[in-house]
Amino acid sequence: MIVTGNIDILRKIVSKERKNAKIISFVPTMGALHKGHLSLVKRAKKDADFLVASIFINPLQFGPREDHKRYPRTKKKDQDLLSNEGVDLLFYPQLKVMYDSNFSVFVDELSFSNVLCGKSRPGHFRGVCTVVAKLFNIVNPDIVYFGQKDYQQVQIVKRLVRDLNFPIKIKILPIVREKNGLAMSSRNNYLSKERKKEAACLYEALLLAKRLINDGKRNQLEIIDEMKKVVKYSKNNKIDYIKIVNVDTLKETKKIKGKILIVLAVYVGGIRLIDNIILNVKK
Ligand code: PAF
Repeated sequence: MIVTGNIDILRKIVSKERKNAKIISFVPTMGALHKGHLSLVKRAKKDADFLVASIFINPLQFGPREDHKRYPRTKKKDQDLLSNEGVDLLFYPQLKVMYDSNFSVFVDELSFSNVLCGKSRPGHFRGVCTVVAKLFNIVNPDIVYFGQKDYQQVQIVKRLVRDLNFPIKIKILPIVREKNGLAMSSRNNYLSKERKKEAACLYEALLLAKRLINDGKRNQLEIIDEMKKVVKYSKNNKIDYIKIVNVDTLKETKKIKGKILIVLAVYVGGIRLIDNIILNVKK
């Protein structure tokens, strides 16, 4: 695996591969890799001839009181994992390579960015869109891989690709879970053993909602109330939001019908975790 933090070197390598008419796949990450990331990398390896990954902890997507400084940094382990999965090229840029000291152009998505996580994390998706657009320009991939756990992020990136005409296909892969159902996340590294057990309540609440809907319940307020009880069983948990929304518009849906996303963000012992499921409700 070639590792570089230099944009010119990366571009030279990728364009050489392109000349051989190879399909370039790309997995952008912020490191602290787990099985969720690796599922993306494995799939990206299968789909293409040349696989690029990136690790960059993007300061623009963290709010002033968020965890940018303490975000887990596990460089050596991450490199070993990516190399074992057959990543051909790892882009590992320094902050100054990505952002000039007087950097002044940003990318903003205006439809989906101010609801759900965007409402609690103002500016977050502006940071994501800006870095993702930069990474797409730098790497110039054919296919890019994201996990369903960040469903809202994926919807926003899809808009970015559509509206800024990036010739890129987006692939979304299922959430990978710990044994107790907790969705894999780099932020799980912050959880103690006890909190990890308690964090299983996010998925338990989603499964409860699924059961209630399958049993014919259609009142969304009642379903959300039941979910809240599951999450609030521990005093260490604080709900940011629990919503049932339309999968395409991310708007709250009073009618539980068709493709819906049940999505939640919960602070477990102060650590913000997110999870979701998609249901197709026939009647
Ligand atoms: O999902 C992530 O890890 C990040 O938001 C991404 C897409 C790598 C952009 O920094």
